Amino acid sequence: MVWHSAARVFAGLAGVSGAEAEEPALELLARWQHEWRVTAELEAQHALETGVANSMESGEIDPGRAGAFLDCDNGDLFWQRFRDAFSRTGPLSPETGSMAYVKWKAWEDFVDGMEEAGGFDGRVVVPLAGEWHADGSGYFTQVREKRDWVTALQKSQWQAVFGKPPAWSSDNLVGFMQCPVGFALVQYVIFLVHKMRSNLPEDAARLNLESMLFAFVSILDSHFDHSESSNWNVSSFDLAVNLNLEDPKFYPRYADFIADHAPPELRLRSWQEDWPGHRMVQSRRLEERILRTALVGEHGPSNLDNLASASAAVSSSGVRLEAGHFFTYMWQLRGLADSGSLRSSLRITWDAFWGQPLTESAGRDKSAQPSWTISGAVWALREFARRDVFLRSSDLVICSEPLWLCVLLHSALEARQRIQLTRASAAGRVMCLLVDFDQVFGLQEVDAFWELVPAFKQTELLSATSRITAEMLDWQAGIRAPYVPCLSLHIDTRYQPSKPKLLFFRSSLPGGAPFLRVLRLIEAEMRQQLVDIMMKPMSFAEIASFRAVAMLPHIPNALRLADVYAMAVPLFLPSEPLIHKFVWPDDPLPLLSKARPPRMAEPKPSAGSSRPSPLDFQIAGRRFYQFRWERHYWLQYTEWWLRPHLLHFSSARDLLEKATISDEALLRISDAMRSHQAQLQMDALDYWQTALAAALG
Ligand SMILES: *[C@@H]1O[C@H](CO)[C@@H](O)[C@H](O)[C@H]1NC(C)=O
Repeated sequence: MVWHSAARVFAGLAGVSGAEAEEPALELLARWQHEWRVTAELEAQHALETGVANSMESGEIDPGRAGAFLDCDNGDLFWQRFRDAFSRTGPLSPETGSMAYVKWKAWEDFVDGMEEAGGFDGRVVVPLAGEWHADGSGYFTQVREKRDWVTALQKSQWQAVFGKPPAWSSDNLVGFMQCPVGFALVQYVIFLVHKMRSNLPEDAARLNLESMLFAFVSILDSHFDHSESSNWNVSSFDLAVNLNLEDPKFYPRYADFIADHAPPELRLRSWQEDWPGHRMVQSRRLEERILRTALVGEHGPSNLDNLASASAAVSSSGVRLEAGHFFTYMWQLRGLADSGSLRSSLRITWDAFWGQPLTESAGRDKSAQPSWTISGAVWALREFARRDVFLRSSDLVICSEPLWLCVLLHSALEARQRIQLTRASAAGRVMCLLVDFDQVFGLQEVDAFWELVPAFKQTELLSATSRITAEMLDWQAGIRAPYVPCLSLHIDTRYQPSKPKLLFFRSSLPGGAPFLRVLRLIEAEMRQQLVDIMMKPMSFAEIASFRAVAMLPHIPNALRLADVYAMAVPLFLPSEPLIHKFVWPDDPLPLLSKARPPRMAEPKPSAGSSRPSPLDFQIAGRRFYQFRWERHYWLQYTEWWLRPHLLHFSSARDLLEKATISDEALLRISDAMRSHQAQLQMDALDYWQTALAAALG
């Protein structure tokens, strides 16, 4: 049977010889997928930094390229007809199916022919478009086995977005060189017809699935929005929800899947609900005085935000805060408006105390082994608190990041000193209490850490800066922290549009580069530049002078959102499902086996009855075809989702279409943001006043 032979061909693609054969095929797939994405995105970032960015700015982009790249609109009749059928009638129509079948048959014949002719002995090399060695010679991929062809296709996809690919003919690799996305879509049709309509034996069905997933990798799961911005009338997530054998239903769209699987209802609790004890706090006017406040945490901007909120909460009583900063990085202070005051009151840097920066991105030596023990750290913190003149005489400690530091500090400070407010702001990163714990302490210290948590849990003065952090803390350690958002009170600037364009906020993701490249291609096609890309830090006043700001989130919660919101600058964000490509941080997760305290980890909650784990889907990384609704569930707790009056785009093309929104509409949105911000502020300052009264009372 021909369908079956498709599986046979891909048995060769997915199964490998030698030691790798021991590895389950899906594990292997995951590994390739990861390696692929990392190399492809690093290359993309590099291309953006060197030259492509310039060609973008100088308008050298070929207006025909967006269509040729995204839609395979490159003169080949097959792709025109296939795209037309696919977009109009969907993957399960006879029209689409028969074309896919013919193409797939040609591909199988080609691969079989290759094999018979000894074509996999390494003699065939495929030039990679648009990539050169420093000496000007090209890059080639040697074809030694069947999957090398797919590799060449995946590569070609990236080259086509950044380089000028050679004019592949309709014959090259059965026409797939001209249209890598077509390779994934043709195979999707074959896979789906099988899944829905035929009774393949289990192992053959699984082979089909695995080869489909392999084609999906780097062609459709990348950070850029290839299919979303194209005219294929399908997004990669529309495909992803059908890529399994377990769920017998076909969902034309991701949205159909979500509508069919309503997750447990969200509980958006007020801070009063999560801190019942607040009623016992005597509200009283503080005496006019200076409050010595130690701000503890590596993230300077968070500390400044906490300082501004605390100051605002007590300012009417004539109380002034004198701040001392602890463990903040110097480099984070660059470019900050208040960096001068922070720098002059910085008592000790992170490195000076801990001996190494916390993360590699902050300059940590990769080869450095964890060298601290929990008991050693608690002892050192206690001794430091005894010796440091400021900390010793502080009226108040406000601790934020990393969260484990606040637990240790809580344990180290003597009762008399322990006037500690903790702001859990793990940014919704999945290890939450254990973010960046591994490199300082290592796995064997986790148990000792968990022993300190019950005492910390008793503290009433803990709040979370985002709902997702609050909910993750609850899931991880059974701690309910009231949600009290960051207010960005240190920013006075407000929306004052004077520039004609949208500002695309600088993205720290490597994936930002390909997204922006597609955006520029579509702009060229539209012959209109609507967007400026922020390439270096900008003052708040400059940001507020653009019509609106667009952002790609890189973690579930970021201060940049609070900042731009506070300025009431209209804000464009990716909508679901596009946002899933960006918002989950792909953290390394080395402490998984001990991610929850032993007691929490024991009883497995029965499926369906409770909330899903935020760990599992994040371990799966960019395998969007797994944990389909867990992602959706947790997204709903992110600030990106919850803040009202945000604007959304489903693709680069959609953003450009929406960028022409009228000035009046933008002003109305800005006003609505401003009044929502005022509400947030009232509520959050109410918390701060109560918490400070409880701490100091
Ligand atoms: C896109 O696909 C849907 C089915 O998912 C179909 O109803 C719609 O008509 C298509 N749109 C276009 C423009 O062909």
